[in-house]
Amino acid sequence: MSKKIGVLTGGGDCPGLNAVIRSVVRRSIVHGDYEIVGIKHGWRGLLEMDTSPLSRRDVQGILHRGGTILGTSRTNIYKDEATKKQAFANYKKLNLDGLVAIGGEDTLGIAKKLTDDGLNVVGIPKTIDNDLMGTDFTFGFDTAVEIATDALDRLHTTAESHDRVLVCEVMGRHAGWIATYSGLAGGADCILIPERPIDMEEVCEMVWRRHKGGVFFSIIVVAEGAKLKGHEEVLSSKHLDDFGHVQLGGIGQVLGKQIEDKTGYDTRVTVLGHVQRGGNPTAHDRVLATRYGVAAMDAIHNGHFGVMVALDGKNVVEVPLARVAEGIKTVDDDLYDMSKTFWGY
Ligand code: F6P
Repeated sequence: MSKKIGVLTGGGDCPGLNAVIRSVVRRSIVHGDYEIVGIKHGWRGLLEMDTSPLSRRDVQGILHRGGTILGTSRTNIYKDEATKKQAFANYKKLNLDGLVAIGGEDTLGIAKKLTDDGLNVVGIPKTIDNDLMGTDFTFGFDTAVEIATDALDRLHTTAESHDRVLVCEVMGRHAGWIATYSGLAGGADCILIPERPIDMEEVCEMVWRRHKGGVFFSIIVVAEGAKLKGHEEVLSSKHLDDFGHVQLGGIGQVLGKQIEDKTGYDTRVTVLGHVQRGGNPTAHDRVLATRYGVAAMDAIHNGHFGVMVALDGKNVVEVPLARVAEGIKTVDDDLYDMSKTFWGY
């Protein structure tokens, strides 16, 4: 009898999810004797028994497409005992032999708990934020960095034409990976991340230094989770999701106002928002997602459960899902300090 494997995508969507889904299905055909079933809208689909079969035909033509054909949600089945019980009962009712959970810290946190509670789960690390422990890179990150870098290139030409300071707020939650990589790639004059409280004197000094040097525009990248020294994160909403996350957003405006007030220079703010998560994945993300999908299906075929497939240097490896629960992966000090070489000149 063929084995039945569920696949779901949870949390915020990101480019490359469809590439993974396709890859899991295609690899299952190579191994033979597998039936793949898509669980709709993340863990919500497990609660609602909302599923659909995933055949080779169902995953044709999706490799390059952003979003997820399965839909996603931020549903937390461990929110209370009743939903947890329901999820377990439905896993059995669906006759699943295993489950591939594609997600970030929340989705994979649940995957870890399900493993501890005896279910067969394999995780795949996705998020534009690149903040997952246990892997060098998540897929989706490269695409987000490309989009943010393109935005910075565009902001450069208009900033230069108007002699303005342009602040660009990017996503990343509590980690500054997108800000650091796009800031480096886009030649930002200052990069501000959640890992380092913002020193307004330092930021304004940088802007003045450029002016004194005869350059009358500046580009500042700020991560949505960055905080002014002595202050809390700026929130766009206090509403908590199922995992207790608030919505971050607004630090760009706060920063822009302070820069304009303190320096007197004309300042504008751009918030990139969900544009960073939409559209087609880069070739790099398509390849990484494809490799992760193959590795996840191989893990299942070999009976390796309770693991997350991960990138370690050039290799895709398996690490215990427990690694994800260690906390978030923040930006390396060395990398961030190196970026200062390019500030303010
Ligand atoms: O985790 C990915 C991410 O895009 C974060 O960078 C951002 O803070 C959050 O999701 C936004 O979530 P939502 O789409 O629910 O507003």
